[in-house]
Amino acid sequence: MRNMEKRNIPISIPSMGEEEWMALKGPIESGWITQGPKVREFEKMFAERHQVKYALAVSNCTTALHLALLACGIGKGDEVLVPAFTWVSTANAVMYCNATPVFVDINPMTFNIDIDQIASKITGRTKAIIPVHLFGLCADVDTIKLKFPDLKIVEDGACAAGAALMGRPAGSLGHVGCFSFHPRKSVTTGEGGMLTTNDESLAKRLDMLRNHGASVSEEQRHHGPKPYILPAFDLVGYNYRMTDLQGAIGTIQLSKLDRFIDERHHWAAYYTEALKEIKWMRTPVVPADYKHGWQSYVTFIDESKSPMKRNDIMELLQAKGIATRPGTHAVHMLDFYARTFNIQPMDFPGAFAADQYSMSIPLHNKMTKDDYDYVIMALKSIK
Ligand SMILES: Cc1ncc(COP(=O)(O)O)c(C=O)c1O
Repeated sequence: MRNMEKRNIPISIPSMGEEEWMALKGPIESGWITQGPKVREFEKMFAERHQVKYALAVSNCTTALHLALLACGIGKGDEVLVPAFTWVSTANAVMYCNATPVFVDINPMTFNIDIDQIASKITGRTKAIIPVHLFGLCADVDTIKLKFPDLKIVEDGACAAGAALMGRPAGSLGHVGCFSFHPRKSVTTGEGGMLTTNDESLAKRLDMLRNHGASVSEEQRHHGPKPYILPAFDLVGYNYRMTDLQGAIGTIQLSKLDRFIDERHHWAAYYTEALKEIKWMRTPVVPADYKHGWQSYVTFIDESKSPMKRNDIMELLQAKGIATRPGTHAVHMLDFYARTFNIQPMDFPGAFAADQYSMSIPLHNKMTKDDYDYVIMALKSIK
C-alpha cells in the first residue's frame, strides 16, 4: 500500500464515462427523447441477459413493484408477504394497491426472507409474496415456489441485476421481476427501473399500465399511418415511462454489467479474506449455487465482541474518510408501519438485529486496491 494518508471513499459512485456521454447524442440529435428506440434496445438487451421473454423499462423500481402487483391482480383486501428488512418501497408498493403488507422475518445470515417463517403468515387473503434479493443475493425463490404454489411471486431484484440462483438469473425466477437503476446499483440510468416476465398477458398489461393505460406506445402513435387515431384506454394507467436518454445510457451500462460484477466479486473476496480475522465482524455469506450481484458488501457487527458499538464504528470510519451505511432498514420499525399495524421492534428479531447491527462498507467499480487496503487497515485498527 502506498500510504495511509486520509482518503475520501464514498459508499458508492456510478461508473460512467465517455461512452455514456456519446450515447446521449443520438436521442438528443433525433429529438425523440421519451420512451422510444433506445428504451426498446435496452429492454431487448436486458431480457436477453436475464433470460426472460419480456423486459419493460419504467421510471424506477418502486413504480415497477407497483405495476407488478397491479398486473398480478393485487387489490383491496389482499395480503402480500414482504420481508421485514428491505427498502421501504417494497412495502409501500403494496399500500399503493390498497392491499396489506404482511411482514415476514429475515434470516440475519443472508439478510433475505426466512422461508421457515412464511407458512405462519399465510391467511385466506394472502395473494402474493415479494422475495427481495437483498444487496444482490437472490432469495430462495425455488423453495417458495415449491412450498407455496398458489402465491404470485414478484421478485424485488432492485439490487440484483446480473445475480443468479442455480445458474438462473434474478428476474426469471418468479412471475414478475423488478429492478432498479438508482445510482447506488451496479448499473445506473440516474433513476430507472425494469420489469421482467415470461408471461405474455402480464407483459401486455404492464406495457399498458406504464403508459396511461394506452393500447399503443407514444412511438407507435406518432409514427403510424393514421394521424387521427388516438389509442384506446382500457384501464386506469400511470405515466411510469423511462426516457430514451436513460435508455441510451442503460444500453452502455448494461454492456458493462458482467465486468462490473466480476470486479466486485474479486474485491468482495479480497475483503472477506482480509477481514476474517476480525472476530467482531461477520462478512457476507454466499450459499453454494448462488451468484451474488454484489450491489453492496454488508457486514454484521457482533457488539458482544466488538470494542465499540456499530454506530461508533461508523462514526470513527467516517472521520477517516470511509463512508459506511446500515445495510437498509427494518420496515416494521418505521413510524408509519409500526403505528398503522401496531408492530413492536422485537416482533421480527432478525430484521431488528439487521437494522441495528448491519454495516455496509464501500465496494464499487471506481475503487483502487489502495482504497480497499485503506478500509481493511482502518477496520483492523479498531481494537
Ligand atoms: C430492495 C429495494 N427495493 C426497492 C428499491 C426502490 O428502487 P428505486 O429507487 O429504483 O425506486 C430499492 C432501492 O434502493 C431497494 O433497495
